Amino acid sequence: MNKFDPHGSDIQYLEDIATSYWNSEILFSAVELDIFEDIQEPMLLNKICKLYGCGEESMRRFLDVLVTMGLLTKYQDSYMNSQMSNTYLIKGKELYQGDSILWRKELKSQWDVLTETIRRGKRIHYIPQDDEQVLFERTKRYINAMDAVIKSKAKEIVSMFGNLELKGKILDVGAGSGAFSLEFIKRYSNISVTLLDLENVINLGKEKYKDVDSIKYHMANILEEWKVEGDYQVIILSNILHAYSEDEVEHILDEAVKNISNTGCLVIHDFFMEHSRLKAGLTDLNMMINTYNGKVFYGKWIGDKLTERGLNHSNLVPLEGDTGVVFASPSKTFIESLALNKIKVISQKIADFGFNNSVKINPQKEVFQTSIAPLKCEYGCGFYAKGTCQTEHIHIDKARQFISEFSVGILIEGEPPTKEFQISMLQIEKEAFKLGFYKAFILWAGPCSLCERCKGRETHCSKTRPSMESYGIDVFKTVREKGIKLKTLDNQDYVKYFGLLLLE
Ligand SMILES: C[S@@+](CC[C@H](N)C(=O)[O-])C[C@H]1O[C@@H](n2cnc3c(N)ncnc32)[C@H](O)[C@@H]1O
Repeated sequence: MNKFDPHGSDIQYLEDIATSYWNSEILFSAVELDIFEDIQEPMLLNKICKLYGCGEESMRRFLDVLVTMGLLTKYQDSYMNSQMSNTYLIKGKELYQGDSILWRKELKSQWDVLTETIRRGKRIHYIPQDDEQVLFERTKRYINAMDAVIKSKAKEIVSMFGNLELKGKILDVGAGSGAFSLEFIKRYSNISVTLLDLENVINLGKEKYKDVDSIKYHMANILEEWKVEGDYQVIILSNILHAYSEDEVEHILDEAVKNISNTGCLVIHDFFMEHSRLKAGLTDLNMMINTYNGKVFYGKWIGDKLTERGLNHSNLVPLEGDTGVVFASPSKTFIESLALNKIKVISQKIADFGFNNSVKINPQKEVFQTSIAPLKCEYGCGFYAKGTCQTEHIHIDKARQFISEFSVGILIEGEPPTKEFQISMLQIEKEAFKLGFYKAFILWAGPCSLCERCKGRETHCSKTRPSMESYGIDVFKTVREKGIKLKTLDNQDYVKYFGLLLLE
């Protein structure tokens, strides 16, 4: 589900939200029915129905929706898994997601109390006090679900250590299944790992990794003193801070700082309010329903707490999915040696500045030009030649040559007021420069609105930038080709502004 797009349809958006649980139900049923296990090879509808002992009509309607969702493919009367389903929905495959999907189903009924939780302003749902075996089985399902989610994210995060030769001890705090640490073990031979968690989870881990010598276990409550060996090269805090309050997180960070080596690194992987904002907000509500004090934090707040404790830290690095990671270390050199994807870092900065959307674009192939664009300035804009815009348009071929010198572009979507939009665009250009993109340059929207009275004619202005139109860019086509909705405006329509950050 995406945020409402004012250039989309209002009623349809509401209808789609109201029915979005239908999507989840279909996925839950498909996993429960083991559909993906059974049709790894093409199978005729009548054979599938025989297998399930059901009528053809209901099964065909169900399978056809799965095809529309991209979970299955269909050829004539045969159905088969899509490539995505074959990768993630077959039991036993490395990145199998079925456990996580069914765990979501288990949590579903707890959301029924959202309205009442908001009314009362506190948690009202509690896990039933079942017998030990039931609780143990539940913990197992929970841990398997976490395991499914973290595996691919851990790969992505460990790759950010680039060429750094890690050796020594790793402490995985609130480790769950330990799947995160396992990625370190796979990649580095000279490390040992301690998984820290509560008793029932530790027992599950011991069972799971009984053959892995480099894993040790430590039972502790992270809200108390951890009582670990200390001097760890890496301390992992993955998907744990959001279960606790500010004060509790401060205690957890104190313990982490106490136990990190001077050349070590703290890895904080979690949801952050600045990244994947809607999902972060939903997770925050999930914590309100299911925990005593849990909440999703801003990366900025976490960063400030790390700085207060004398640690250097990276920017928030968004991952491919809905979570992000912050690295912190007593050693500035360590943070500087990480192989962080700078495009991702600048994309996150763009979100931090409050822009509505940003999309990576290939300037050489995906920025379209039209000779009409400068004419629209000259004959369609009330500010033309009022001293606040470029009236001497660069020739379209020269503009093309300029744009082609950049290998990466980021289309940035904002909104009025124009002055604030343009100031933020300039700040983004500066942030990109500071990150090492020495050629960073922005093109923005509209006439320059930085100053009350433009002195551009009298003195050279270092702040103003050209608009995309003055460089002959067909903004409508460029934006729409990237899947962004942009309509021509009626009087009261919501206005979208676009700028282009060019990087090399
Ligand atoms: C959401 S899971 C995250 C597991 C793993 N780190 C990951 O990223 O997939 C949270 C883990 O923290 C553990 N945990 C929560 N509160 C804890 C506490 N007070 N002391 C120790 N472990 C705790 C839970 O048992 C669970 O295994």
